Amino acid sequence: MAQKVLDVEDIRRLSDLGEVISAQVALKRVGRRLRGVCPFHSEKSPSFYVDPDKGLWHCFGCKAGGDVFRFVELSMGLSFPEAAQWLARRLGGEFRRRSTAQTSETQRLADMNSEAAGFFRRMLFAQEGEAARAYLEERGLSSEEAIRFGLGYAPQDWSRLFDLLRDKGFGEQEIFRSGLCLSRPSGGGYDRFRNRLIFSIFDTQQRIVGFGGRALAEEDEPKYLNSPETPLFQKGRTLYGLSWASRAIASRQRAVVVEGYFDLIRCHLCGIEEAVATLGTALTAAHLVLLRRRRTEKVFLAFDADSAGLRAALRSREIGAEAEVKVLAAELPAGHDPDSYLLSEGPEALEKVLAKGKPLVELTLEGILKKYEGQPANQRLGLLKEGAEILCGLQDAAEKAYYISWLGERYCGEGRENLAKVEQILVSQIAALSRKAGRSRYAGTPQAESRQDTTAEEALSSQVSGATPSAKLERQVLACLLAQPSILVNRPELIQPEDFCEPAHRRLAEAMLPLARQGEEPGSDRLSLCFEEGELRSLLAELVLGAEPWMNAAEVEKTLKRLQAIRVEKRRRELALLLEKEKEEEKRRLLQEEIHALARERSRQVGRWVVGE
Ligand code: UTP
Ligand code: MN
Repeated sequence: MAQKVLDVEDIRRLSDLGEVISAQVALKRVGRRLRGVCPFHSEKSPSFYVDPDKGLWHCFGCKAGGDVFRFVELSMGLSFPEAAQWLARRLGGEFRRRSTAQTSETQRLADMNSEAAGFFRRMLFAQEGEAARAYLEERGLSSEEAIRFGLGYAPQDWSRLFDLLRDKGFGEQEIFRSGLCLSRPSGGGYDRFRNRLIFSIFDTQQRIVGFGGRALAEEDEPKYLNSPETPLFQKGRTLYGLSWASRAIASRQRAVVVEGYFDLIRCHLCGIEEAVATLGTALTAAHLVLLRRRRTEKVFLAFDADSAGLRAALRSREIGAEAEVKVLAAELPAGHDPDSYLLSEGPEALEKVLAKGKPLVELTLEGILKKYEGQPANQRLGLLKEGAEILCGLQDAAEKAYYISWLGERYCGEGRENLAKVEQILVSQIAALSRKAGRSRYAGTPQAESRQDTTAEEALSSQVSGATPSAKLERQVLACLLAQPSILVNRPELIQPEDFCEPAHRRLAEAMLPLARQGEEPGSDRLSLCFEEGELRSLLAELVLGAEPWMNAAEVEKTLKRLQAIRVEKRRRELALLLEKEKEEEKRRLLQEEIHALARERSRQVGRWVVGE
């Protein structure tokens, strides 16, 4: 009998959330819900709630939460498709996504890659593979290890793989699309990888999505040749080794990113199983999201001392903020990469290097400080300008304030008498840059609760980007709309995504609106189908299970107006502060104009909203 094919919706409908969670957590019934001790953080009194009817769970202690998929992802360190497959098998079926046209193309590519991987492995252990085996030995890898990591060898011949794939019934065009072979102008095709050691690249569903090939002969260029991008293989979204690292990342709550295939394998062999590698491309926000999904908060970059990868990461230091992970760069001694360092110094030495990892911002600022070292005072002002540009990109207000003092102190050196002034300069530079970059900059995430020592600068900078009271109101609005999705179906014009400053809130509103406009109720069950990101599904669960006050449509509308008023008032205050410090006549005039416009807007808004924080 054919396997039962289940899609996301089937799995959700058929899985009993209470039962899935009970297998791992002792739950007691309290009213409609079940309660237990949260498995995701340590706690004594239970604050982990499960609502089997709604199919949602949430911990009020650590804020983890979501649906049945999310629970399996987090508790077992799986990706979304892996969790879906696990649940499908539990129900006696197979997980398949709905869109069949696309799956069949990617499925064919995966099948072809898997044929190719078998061929490469056979070649490694055949007579042809002798030199490759000798090379592996030289690099300190045994045959068992080669098999474990899916290594292989592409022989010197021109078209052995091409001929094999043709024999297996693959069409020329799809073979070329896979990137394994290239077409000859005279007809037929030839193999991309020849006389190379082959690394198979797996995705998190254990499919082989592409290959990397290392030259064996010194004179062969390039040193590494990778598969081109295909519908199955996107380098900016793939991390080599992630399928082997998932569990360790979830359990150790950190990831180590390296740059090379050998680096990755050596890490895993040395017990650093939370290691993954980029594939000859810069680290992207999508990479970090992949790691973040496995519940890691810290990502260590263990790149070569002067690696292009590190420089690229420094340039795009905002990627960590977007993905909400802390990215720490660890500097290896010059001339070493993780592979060579582990081989000569061992895992404990590498651990020490990782422990000294620095936030990317700090490393960038240090670079700027170094650049201006020993320059005359008038030139050194450029340092503050460059520093402000970096700091302006930070999303977290507390972090921003911290690095303003950090840079100020290093700029002033021993003599601290100018410190306040220098910090002031930084703050106004940052404010000016933010203003230029548009209002989106002001919509920072409200994570500012964790640091004290408030200076005037800090107060200002957190005012610029903090949004805590508004964030709370935004949540209330969304929670009420989720609880009564018919409100939005009747009046989709009630909200606009722009009403929400918090990025996650805005995304949720963006997902709710089109459904409502089509007359479909945007309830949590329907919405969770829209999101694969754990964060958004956690937010959904929190909003649905949380105890937000109840509001009817009219009250939702009032709250939205209040949000708007808060935003206008906040902007007005920011500008007033800037005006106090502005000396230039022309700029003062512009600021005053904008302040008046905001005041007018405010008086147009209903007067009785209490505005304030
Ligand atoms: P490295 O040049 O640092 O190589 O490139 P490595 O990993 O230390 O290699 P060995 O130890 O000399 O064998 C790091 C990574 O950058 C990508 C590969 O993924 C490589 O592992 N790369 C490098 C390319 O994609 N193409 C290249 O030509 C070079
Ligand atoms: Mn190396």
